[in-house]
Amino acid sequence: MSSTPAQWKSTFEPLAFARQLSTRTAQPPLPLADIQRGICEAATRPLNRATTLPAQAYTSEEFFAWEVTHVLRAGWQCVAHISQVPSPGDFLNLDLLGEPLIVVHGKDAAIRVLSRVCPHRSMDIMPEGFGYDGHTLAEARNGRPDCGHTRLFLCPYHAWTFELDGHLKACPEMHQAEDFCRDNFSLKTFRCEMWLGFIFVNLDGSAPPLAEGLTDMAADLAAFQLDKMKLVIAREWDCPFNWKVLAENFMESYHHLGIHHKTLQPMMPARDTWTEQERRHYVRAHLPYKDTVRDAYRAFEEKGDFSAALPPVLGLSDRQKSEWGLFLIHPTFLLATAPDRVIWYRLQPLGPDRLKLLTTTLLAPEALELPNFEQLHALTTEQLTQFHLEDMEVCTAVQRGLYASGWQPGRLSHLEMPVWLFHRYLAARIRSMWPTDDYAAAPSQRA
Ligand code: FES
Ligand SMILES: [Fe+2]
Repeated sequence: MSSTPAQWKSTFEPLAFARQLSTRTAQPPLPLADIQRGICEAATRPLNRATTLPAQAYTSEEFFAWEVTHVLRAGWQCVAHISQVPSPGDFLNLDLLGEPLIVVHGKDAAIRVLSRVCPHRSMDIMPEGFGYDGHTLAEARNGRPDCGHTRLFLCPYHAWTFELDGHLKACPEMHQAEDFCRDNFSLKTFRCEMWLGFIFVNLDGSAPPLAEGLTDMAADLAAFQLDKMKLVIAREWDCPFNWKVLAENFMESYHHLGIHHKTLQPMMPARDTWTEQERRHYVRAHLPYKDTVRDAYRAFEEKGDFSAALPPVLGLSDRQKSEWGLFLIHPTFLLATAPDRVIWYRLQPLGPDRLKLLTTTLLAPEALELPNFEQLHALTTEQLTQFHLEDMEVCTAVQRGLYASGWQPGRLSHLEMPVWLFHRYLAARIRSMWPTDDYAAAPSQRA
């Protein structure tokens, strides 16, 4: 069996504690229509009167089922970065919203997202921990349980084999099956689009084309050359909270003042953060460095001494070198850009209060050539883990609050504009629209 490197999966001790304490019964149930009405009411308020959503938007099984159909399966979910499957034959497995998936780099260089469900008798052809090490043709890669390389996919149950494009190549002892045509038994292919090196899937096939709605964002990010970057850190977390609790937490920087007062607030004070105008498919926020941090970073860059920190990505503008950027492509793509790295979170919602999360860091290829790369890699890993642990604690505790009878609707700060925009996106989906389709876009917080 393939082994999982100790550092790949994170054990977060407060989780067990949080689960014990969560009674999950104190909030009265609310019918789906009332939850949706509550979201739409919150979304019609201006930012300076903005409120939180009904608690049941984060706890109701019924609302989660609605989201799975109308928000998550209907939207674009990012499943991998091209550096995870760089060559023909490379593949990556993940389960998303009940779909066992393979992201595969084909012999024809195309990237595909296939179902792992065998069209013979439904076996998941590569469940985690099975399908490598001699069971099939695939070999595990990078010491990871979810990445591999193969020339064919083999279902271990009755040994049907599939090409990398999903077509059935061979199936033993099927010659007596009448009217059996191999072409009718391929692994299912899901709609997929690659954007700036990130591989997205649309499970129900209904989403508008991805790249068309993101041309401004692509221009904004061009200097980072995201498609050339390498994903060098990936850590998986079992999260006992709703996926929206994480998305809201990721996108607002008001909480630098609280939980990140020692880590992020000294670098990027909450009060200086601001959010761009409302857009149809994404949210964009800026987190400028404090002047002293910006000046120190410039001096360090001029000296060219990268013994203790990563150099900035080549070709960034002065503004890009003096702030972090936050991006949310609706519904779940979360990206943070720093001058020297890019942080991407992959979300796999499992239920109203369960989420599998992969936190990752991508670096420019030149960073991997640094003589002290190993040391910088360790430092970067520690930084990613440190501030994420702070977020894990607050998100876990927020979910407990959402279940309690002591819960009450809250008010938002202007620094939580990304949260308000996210709520407006959810309200638009409830109306089967997109943000700004049937109202004027909210303006940017800076001219
Ligand atoms: S279930 Fe896959 S070959 Fe039979
Ligand atoms: Fe945070």
